[in-house]
Amino acid sequence: MENISGKVLVIDDEDQFRIALTKVVRKHGYEATPFSSAIEALEYLKIHHAEIDITIVDMKMDGMDGIEFITKINELYPTIVPIMVTAYSSIDTAVNSIKHGAFDFISKPFSPEQIIYAVQKSMTRRTLLVQNKKLKEDAERSLKILGQEKSKIHTVVQCMANPLIVLNGGLEIVLYNPCFENIDLGTKIKLYSKITDYDSEFINQIKALVNSMIDNKTLTMIQKEIKINEKFYQATCAAVVTDREIEGYCVVLNDITKLKEVENLKNQFVSMVAHEIKAPISASLGYIYLILDGYITDKDKILEKLGRCKERSETLLEMVNDLLQISRHQTNRLNLEIKPVDISVKLENTLEFFAQEMKKKNISLEKDISAANNLILADDRSLEMILNNLISNAIKYTPEGGSVSVRYYNDGDYGVISVKDTGYGIRKEDMPRLFTEFFRCKTKETSKISGTGLGLSVVKKFVTAQKGTVSVESEYQKGSVFTVRLPLSH
Ligand SMILES: Nc1ncnc2c1ncn2[C@@H]1O[C@H](COP(=O)(O)OP(=O)(O)OP(=O)(O)O)[C@@H](O)[C@H]1O
Ligand SMILES: [Mg+2]
Repeated sequence: MENISGKVLVIDDEDQFRIALTKVVRKHGYEATPFSSAIEALEYLKIHHAEIDITIVDMKMDGMDGIEFITKINELYPTIVPIMVTAYSSIDTAVNSIKHGAFDFISKPFSPEQIIYAVQKSMTRRTLLVQNKKLKEDAERSLKILGQEKSKIHTVVQCMANPLIVLNGGLEIVLYNPCFENIDLGTKIKLYSKITDYDSEFINQIKALVNSMIDNKTLTMIQKEIKINEKFYQATCAAVVTDREIEGYCVVLNDITKLKEVENLKNQFVSMVAHEIKAPISASLGYIYLILDGYITDKDKILEKLGRCKERSETLLEMVNDLLQISRHQTNRLNLEIKPVDISVKLENTLEFFAQEMKKKNISLEKDISAANNLILADDRSLEMILNNLISNAIKYTPEGGSVSVRYYNDGDYGVISVKDTGYGIRKEDMPRLFTEFFRCKTKETSKISGTGLGLSVVKKFVTAQKGTVSVESEYQKGSVFTVRLPLSH
């Protein structure tokens, strides 16, 4: 007896054959379930079809006959193998059975061997059908996963914020993303064309990068800076390697223009600071050498020079303090403590501090520094610095006999401070750079006035940090108005 076992449905409306068939099948190790009608068997299959391997069905039955049953089985459950049983064996009935989808047929009367032989053959067929179905399902699943992966990669490449281009081993362009296309390449590129066919400044730089990869076979990645039309890119070329063979090259670009700008600004700033610091130190040292080397011996002259050294050192100290403020601001260590501050009190104090200086220069003061709401939201120390800078500028850049007018008023949710003077004014061309570090107007009127050019840049930084704004209106040789708006406390 064979070891194969399986589940068989036996369908015959003649009791004697059904019983005999069931018996034989069971005797040979199969599980057999008998049915006297094809309709009942179909009902049963609705639930159990997955576990049934073979059906043995009589051709001639009342209700649904064998042919109809087999046709249905093939349509609904193609992995179940049907065997037809016929009373009169003839070539015609055999052909007809097979045509309607029977895998084998047995004629009545039959011997047990005949039945078992047909069942065993059908079992082998069943195994093949099941395997085939599984393989098909696996293949479909793999294809689906592959499709999904492909579309995922496609989406990632398309959406990538960095320009990307991929070349195959023959240096043909096999992939690039919209971001790459958007660069000013200097030429229009096409898929599957050779990169060597193009000749633009940008493409030539990419070619050079890939060529250095090709020349240096040991490298798997190379980086280079590419510059085109005022834009800087960090280009990374990586070899596409499968089974130790180089299949192509993938170039990804990173726009570093902003970074470069920041780097340049930083360098400019450092050299500017160095320059500004050098001048007062050299001047002071110059005086000190003159005294130490004995060129100046007169006590009064020595005191005068030392006085200048002191002045220069004080300016230097002020500048260093301003720089520290700026650096604190830039590293977000401002530690502003924003709370309601009475601005009229602050203005009063500041004006008192400068009263002496104004008197010395015979500058008249107009003030109107109280409004319905005098409480503004600000940091105490920064506010003092803002007012000091604006008022000291107004006095510093106004000639003798001029006037300064300080006002405070409410405008919606803001408290507005305006400092107006009848001074030298600012030329139109100087306006855009007025609030940048170290900027000082170079006019005949202001050339003798000392300063670091940091005051207004500090004002701007602090006002912005306190959610306010600062603006200026000025007419050269007429005067200026600086206006600061800070949020009111309610
Ligand atoms: N009220 C003003 N009238 C005319 N020019 C002004 C006025 N305020 C500022 N400026 C011009 O703007 C420049 C920058 O001012 P800022 O306060 O930043 O620097 P500074 O006064 O030169 O030096 P610091 O304030 O650091 O001692 C000044 O050098 C001056 O030329
Ligand atoms: Mg100033």
